[in-house]
Amino acid sequence: MSEREPIGVVGAGWVGLVTAACFAELGHRVVVREIVPEKVESLRRGEIPIHEPGLPELIKKNAERLTFTTDMAELLDGPRLLFVCVQTPPTYSGDADLSAVQRAVGEIGEPDGKALVMKSTVPVGTGRTIHRDAPELAYVACPEFLKEGTAVKDFLEPDRVVVGFDQGDEWAADAVAAAYEPLGAPIVRTDLSSAEMIKLASNAYLATKISFINEIANVCDEVGADVTEVARGMGMDPRIGDRFLNAGLGFGGSCFPKDTQALKILAGNSGYHFQLLNSVIEVNELQKRRVMAKLSKHLDSLVGKRVALLGLAFKPDTDDMREASSLVLASRLEGEGATVVAFDPVAEERARQLLPSVEMAGSAMETLEAADAAVLVTEWPEFAELDWTEVAKAMNNPLLVDGRNFLDPDAVRAAGMTYEAIGRPGLADRSAVS
Ligand code: UDX
Repeated sequence: MSEREPIGVVGAGWVGLVTAACFAELGHRVVVREIVPEKVESLRRGEIPIHEPGLPELIKKNAERLTFTTDMAELLDGPRLLFVCVQTPPTYSGDADLSAVQRAVGEIGEPDGKALVMKSTVPVGTGRTIHRDAPELAYVACPEFLKEGTAVKDFLEPDRVVVGFDQGDEWAADAVAAAYEPLGAPIVRTDLSSAEMIKLASNAYLATKISFINEIANVCDEVGADVTEVARGMGMDPRIGDRFLNAGLGFGGSCFPKDTQALKILAGNSGYHFQLLNSVIEVNELQKRRVMAKLSKHLDSLVGKRVALLGLAFKPDTDDMREASSLVLASRLEGEGATVVAFDPVAEERARQLLPSVEMAGSAMETLEAADAAVLVTEWPEFAELDWTEVAKAMNNPLLVDGRNFLDPDAVRAAGMTYEAIGRPGLADRSAVS
């Protein structure tokens, strides 16, 4: 194998670490520059600050090819390709906060023969603005499409790799494409702004699919159809596809809420009212609250009631609590006078800071003990293993709202539980079946 191009990574966050570890796995020497010294020290000791399956192993395996530093000069000393992987959280106005990107760009400057490769999700037009201000630095937009929990696999087995560049930066685009070439994925070579839009539009489309199926679920609740059956039948049409049709408590996480908002604001700033996207966001906000009506169907009042939340993370296999539906739900429940007790296999520590008044239990069973109602918020596999007969005995009132349509309704009901889901009314309500 010929010598692989050295890689520089700016930012040892989730995207930066996955990118660095995976390029190291592909045989590249990788220098990661991170501004927080404690983070660098812990990474040097082999401690990984985030929960991402497979990542610690990959970092350990490729330790000799990975260097962590706080020193930008060390990064600029070697690699030609500088992958910028810093956060772009939403500001109060909903625009993307580009201060971390700007700081990174400022620190990189305009070194000869180097390319800035933007992994962070930025508004369309950002690349051209940065390039205009630093024309000597080549610029490539190479957005990430990593899902938390499967990020290592997503990086190493991508559906596509987007390489956006403008005239004059062909050498940099070729070098980025060559770095990804061993993965065998199609490379989408396109202009800078289109590459930036591919990322925003992909996430907005997936978010739309989720809000769409959630609205279908809400109608199913009214008319006695089962959304999981509906999604099964819809998904067989390859034009629709069967993925991202799981109805539930709405989408959360670090990307969908932020990127839908950013695209809406980007459109608005340029004078276009993106009506569909506005609805997608609104539907999602309301979806997080759907559980309240389902609880009220069975409980006269929530005042003084003990409500157990099974799972807090925005999805399984992550400890990420950003924009998690559990945050809205816990506040709503407390607002109605309920006491909230919760269990999450990995997100507890992060959740404690965000939900200080929520009681954290040591296990799923402990959460359910003496509860007046339970809500399954995150579909952690271990919740499917619960003995629902035991749960029904342990609860004060055996009521479960399955916010992710994760469990087998018949089995849970047969165990003596009152079971509610999202868009899955009981068989008795489905006139065609009964
Ligand atoms: C997402 C994109 O999938 C990824 O390509 C992008 O780069 C980053 O954002 P991630 O946020 O890690 O990844 O999670 P994802 O698995 O996509 O789920 C996002 C949210 O949507 C979760 O809250 C999940 O519970 C919800 N979801 C997903 C549904 O409610 N229904 C579905 O059918 C799928």
